[in-house]
Order: sequence, then structure tokens, then C-alpha cells
Amino acid sequence: MIITIVGGGSTFTAGIVKSIALREKDLGVSEIRLYDVDKERQDKVGVVVDWVLKEDVKTNIKLTLTTNKEEAYREASFIFAQMRVGKYAMREQDEKIPLRHGCVGQETCGCGGLAYGMRTIHPMIDLIDDVEKYAKKDYWILNYSNPAAVVSEACRKLRPHARIINICDMPIAIVDMIAQCLHIDNYKDITYDYFGLNHFGWFTSMEYKGRDILAEMKEYVKKHKILLPEKHIEAIENFRKTENRHANESWIHVWKAVYDMMEMFPEYLPNTYLNYYLLSKESVEHSNANHTRANEVMETREKTLFEGVDHYLKTGEISEKAFYAGAHGDWIADLAVALKNDTKERFLVIVENRGTIPNMPYDAMVEVPAYIGKNGPEVISQNPIPLFYQGLMMQQVNSEKLLVEGCMEQSYEKVLQAFTLNKTVPSASVAKAILDEMIEANKGFWPELK
Ligand code: NAD
Ligand code: G6P
Ligand code: MN
Repeated sequence: MIITIVGGGSTFTAGIVKSIALREKDLGVSEIRLYDVDKERQDKVGVVVDWVLKEDVKTNIKLTLTTNKEEAYREASFIFAQMRVGKYAMREQDEKIPLRHGCVGQETCGCGGLAYGMRTIHPMIDLIDDVEKYAKKDYWILNYSNPAAVVSEACRKLRPHARIINICDMPIAIVDMIAQCLHIDNYKDITYDYFGLNHFGWFTSMEYKGRDILAEMKEYVKKHKILLPEKHIEAIENFRKTENRHANESWIHVWKAVYDMMEMFPEYLPNTYLNYYLLSKESVEHSNANHTRANEVMETREKTLFEGVDHYLKTGEISEKAFYAGAHGDWIADLAVALKNDTKERFLVIVENRGTIPNMPYDAMVEVPAYIGKNGPEVISQNPIPLFYQGLMMQQVNSEKLLVEGCMEQSYEKVLQAFTLNKTVPSASVAKAILDEMIEANKGFWPELK
């Protein structure tokens, strides 16, 4: 059984491979293939991956590194996708261009997310076509590639029969954080309900062994004015780094924003990403247009990984801290286990609505709970959602749909409508100024707009 990781040179590859390796028997996996368009980057990551498989987890899984699509996908059963089209250099542009115009600068939300979407739609469609050509007929593509909202809409529209499931690790990272806040040993023991779009949703209930922990978290967040465990709060107060990648640097502002959002709208617990839409002014004020999250990531996660590789090659010593392992890899590997072994375990997935949320369009891509078995997600139907949330979601979903249509039709006007409709943009003239600058910055990545 072959698993191919697309974006093999990602900073997350070693962690994902570790999660796969720890599930070697459940997955029946015999080979992992890494595929990337950047050979040099992937070869370096491959050094750590090889160590994870041979020395760390001690498996017999074969490792293949390739930049050849046929070699990558031939007879593969699972394809884990995590491509970052344009890499961190373009993420920097996605974040910095909108900020220069006074708008939210974020890789997946607002104009930055739309720009990243325009770069990623065609490479993701190419990926589906290549997989259809070479992989096993009952393949599954599990997609992390961002912006997942736009990518999933494009796949739905352009390749409706593709066996692809789009996922996000943020809700589970929030659940993990909540477990730590409440001293719950294993976040997997927490059950929850959730509705929304990708990076745009709300927890509506949360339970642990019969306890209403959503109510407990409302109290917790009120008291601490942040959704982070006390040990992280203490570390932040003492200017120490926390070990959690979601609780370092600019992420701290995001967890504080959860408090501000819940003070105003205490009904549900919001996904952290909603701060970019509900508190966009504050997000811009807090940002530094000359040094954004892309810079932080390059200076921390990426640097640590590649320095770790160099150190290992020189000395034969490797530190677990060189790469990130945990919930992110476990989430995608567990999803593959559920598909392979028909476990009917519950996951959050991004799927076509088809009536799941009765007052959202049939063809909106929504993020909702589903039971996962060998035939894919069996989605759990939801109650109609209150107007406030539905209105926010409609605005966002239409912005994303217009972007995908604009990309396919190469329509400047539709893409401008997508930017204008986005809640992070105050005026059509600002949308136009950002779009025009982004067209320049994305030459060679975006389809030409007419
Ligand atoms: P990264 O830049 O370190 O890795 C991405 C890799 O993708 C690079 O090695 C790059 O060369 C490669 N790539 C670019 N275009 C490609 C193509 N067309 N085909 C194959 N490979 C290609 O980025 P990262 O920070 O490690 O993140 C990887 C991806 O995972 C990003 O898309 C990121 O947004 C996504 N991600 C998603 C979630 C989620 O919740 N859905 C969580 C974490 C990361
Ligand atoms: C969360 C989101 C991902 C996003 C990531 C960015 O995990 O769910 O979609 O890619 O954060 O994290 P970073 O550390 O790269 O800013
Ligand atoms: Mn995500």
C-alpha cells in the first residue's frame, strides 16, 4: 500500500510521516513517496523523513523521493496533498500587499487567501488529473493544501467525481488547546458539534465524559481573556516560547481575539480565523506590514528544520525539536485509517452542503462533522443556523465562489467582485488597488485576467 505526499518538501512532511509510521499496521502501508516540484528542498526534508522511518519509529516502510508525477502516483492508494504554490516568498506577498492598503494580511483569509487561491486552483486540478491517470482506481486524495475553502470549491466545480476530501487542522488544534486548558489528558475524548466554512466556523457544543465543556470554556476564556492553557499564558508572560506551534509569536493575538469575539457573541465558540473578519481593524492595527507571519515562519519553523538537517548530516545527531509532530499529522493519518478500515469515526470535513445546513446553498462547500467509512464521509445534518452566522457565511462563500468562477473564466470583473465582496475589504476602490498590485506580484502564477 502506497501513500504519496505531495509537497514533500513541506515543513510538515516529517511530522506527517511520523504519524503514518506510528499507524503502519492499521494502514498496511509499505511505501511512502514524496513528490515535490522543488527537488533540493524535498531532498533535504527526505533526510529527516528517512531518519523518522528507520531510526525514530523503526519501520520497514520503503521511502521514495521523486519529482516525476508518474513515479509519484503509480498504484498509490492515498495521496496526502500539502502544496504551497509560490512558497513562503509568495505567502509574504499575500500578507503584505493587503496590509499596505490597510486590509487584513493573512495567507488564507481576505485578499491574501483569494490570491493564494488563484495560484493553487490549477495545480490542484492537475494533481487530480495525474492521480486519476496513475493511481489505484479507489484512491483517496486527502487535501491540506490551502486555501482549502477555495481549493475545495474549485475541485467540486471542475472535478466533481474526484475522490478528494479537503480538511483543516485548526478545529482540532482548538480542541487540543481546550483539552490542555481543562487538563483533559487526551483531546480525542472530547466530542463536539461544529458548523461553518473552512477557517470560518463555530463550535456549537462540546462535551467530555458528560461535562458541558463549552460552558466551562466560556468561563475560562472570560477569566483569562485568552483561549490558551495556563502554562502557555505563564510562558508568554515570561517571554518564553511555548512548544505549541499555534501558541507562538503572532498566533498569541489570535487566541486573545477569541476572548474579544466571545465577549460580543457568547453563543458559540468561534474558530480563531474569524478574528480576521469580525475584528479586521484590530488585526490590521496589530500587524507589521514589514514583518508578517511568513517572515516568522521562515525565521522559526523553516529555519529550525533545515538547520536540523544540516546538523544531522554533519554530526549524525538529530533533535526531535527539528520538526513538528503531533495533531496535524495525526488528523490526516487517522482520517486515512478510518477510510481504509471503514471505522465510521467522526471527523470534521469540508464537503458540498447538499442540504446539510438547510439554510445554506446546496452547492456551498461547508465544514461539518461526518462519520468516515470506506465510501467516504457520511455527513451529519445540521439545524438551520441563525441569521447572523448565515449572513456572514453567505458573504464569504459568494466571495470564494466568485473567485473560482473568475479564475476559470479569466474574468477580471468577477475576481474584482470576489475581492470587493470579502468582508475584510472596506471599499471597491481598495479591492481594485489590491487586486491590481496582486496581478503584478503573481505574474507566472495566476491565469491572465481579461
Ligand atoms: P512549505 O512551503 O514548507 O511546503 C510546501 C511545499 O509544496 C514546498 O516544498 C513546495 O516546493 C511544494 N510545492 C509547491 N507547488 C507545488 C506543486 N504544484 N506540486 C507539488 N509541490 C508543490 O509550506 P508549509 O508551511 O509546510 O505548508 C504546506 C501546505 O500545507 C500549505 O499549503 C499550507 O497552507 C498547508 N497547511 C494546511 C493546513 C490545513 O489546515 N489545511 C495546516 C497546515 C498547513
Ligand atoms: C492552521 C491552519 C492552517 C494553516 C496554518 C498556518 O493550522 O488550519 O490552514 O496553514 O495554521 O500555520 P503557520 O504556522 O504556517 O502560520
Ligand atoms: Mn486550516
